[in-house]
Amino acid sequence: MTERVIHNQWSSRLAFMLAATGSAVGLGNIWKFPYITGEYGGGAFVLVYLVCIALIGIPVMMAEILLGRRARANPIDAFRSQAEAEGRSRAWGGVGLMGVFAGFVILSFYSVVAGWALAYVFEALSGAFDGLDGETSGALFGALTGSPQRLLFWHTVFMLLTVAVVARGVRSGLERLVTLLMPLLLVLLALLVGYAMAAGEFARGFHYLFDVDFSRVFLQCGDDGACTFTAEPLLAAMGHAFFTLSLGMGAIMVYGSYMPREASIAGSTVMIAIADTLVALMAGLAIFPLVFANGLEPGAGPGLVFVSLPIAFGAMPGGQLVGVLFFLLLVFAAWSSSISVMEPGVAWLSENGHLSRGRASLILGGLAWLLGIGAALSFNLWSGEDYQLFGKTLFDLEDFLASNVLLPLGGLFITLFVGWVVRRRGSEDELAMHSPRLFGLWYFVIRYVAPAGIVLVFLNAIGVV
Ligand code: TRP
Repeated sequence: MTERVIHNQWSSRLAFMLAATGSAVGLGNIWKFPYITGEYGGGAFVLVYLVCIALIGIPVMMAEILLGRRARANPIDAFRSQAEAEGRSRAWGGVGLMGVFAGFVILSFYSVVAGWALAYVFEALSGAFDGLDGETSGALFGALTGSPQRLLFWHTVFMLLTVAVVARGVRSGLERLVTLLMPLLLVLLALLVGYAMAAGEFARGFHYLFDVDFSRVFLQCGDDGACTFTAEPLLAAMGHAFFTLSLGMGAIMVYGSYMPREASIAGSTVMIAIADTLVALMAGLAIFPLVFANGLEPGAGPGLVFVSLPIAFGAMPGGQLVGVLFFLLLVFAAWSSSISVMEPGVAWLSENGHLSRGRASLILGGLAWLLGIGAALSFNLWSGEDYQLFGKTLFDLEDFLASNVLLPLGGLFITLFVGWVVRRRGSEDELAMHSPRLFGLWYFVIRYVAPAGIVLVFLNAIGVV
């Protein structure tokens, strides 16, 4: 066995909670959740997503944290050592490796979108939101995404920010800063929901998010009126449950490996999941009323948030300040997430003593930056059909591969590992739940329900079930 040095331990349970919540809450909640909910047609999609959070997300998060904390090592070595201890193959480390790969794909497009938020801090500062309507706001966003230079510039800036923090270790100043900023983000979101109530078509937005109409989401109807069932929203909802909770690639696992023993895994997990879901739903409640009030399309795609909210900032009193603050906070939320995407790979490379944290972050960040160029060009030079595969741009492909394939697959292996490889007793000790019944329920879900659910959704998506 190799000697492992764990660089870090969170100073307290609170520090773990903040870091993990900072990882979970990010672009996934404020940018991706509203835009895919709009693309997939609203309420029924939201319901399926919430079911996935409860039935798969929460149990898998507990499993990830427990694996990390038990092994006190990066995900790859955590899988290896625990498999070995149970007399199984070290090949389980491959799950961790797949996670590092998934992280690199996620980081590539994540950084491009975080770059949009960075650019919009300065748009807000310059007063560019003043008096925007649906059309001019669309044009403002189009001018950004249409410019390869601007996208690449901001993508580069954000990647450097991420590398800078990861290189120094995730317990650096950023975590303390995020502690302050996360509550502020919540307050701003609440303010925006209030504005949407006053100035938007709130009832319509609300019903769009919460009225469950399965036919609108799961039936695809042609011009001739014939409808067929489509499984894609199901896969997308499950994939997003993984994405938004930072699951399936070892990010929460590696944060768990820095977690103090006395903290409760189940309690922390539930709180993180609730906070994460709350932020996403509030973002939806702020955005859809504005979308309808300004004649925008809910299914407009990745630009939805960046087109709808600036209209509100441009019209509300004090909107310039609110707009600057909002996009600044969005950048910080993205920043505290992106560092966790990189952490498993960097922890692995540096704990084995081959590379320093600085080198490891530079290498991983550099690779993700390269792949991110493709994501950025997907909106301009490479947006044409010649550059598409299965009707998807490189940006969409990266997102699809990571969120809808690699993360659920990683999650599946995690449930199988904890449910079938690690002895029940080991998990029971590590979770240390007060109620044996609750533990039994979790164990049943991890062993049967969650893996079966993931496999079913996969089979469904490729048309087998
Ligand atoms: N959860 C973050 C968000 O919603 C993104 C993220 C951070 C992530 N770490 C991750 C996604 C690990 C998948 C895996 O924005």
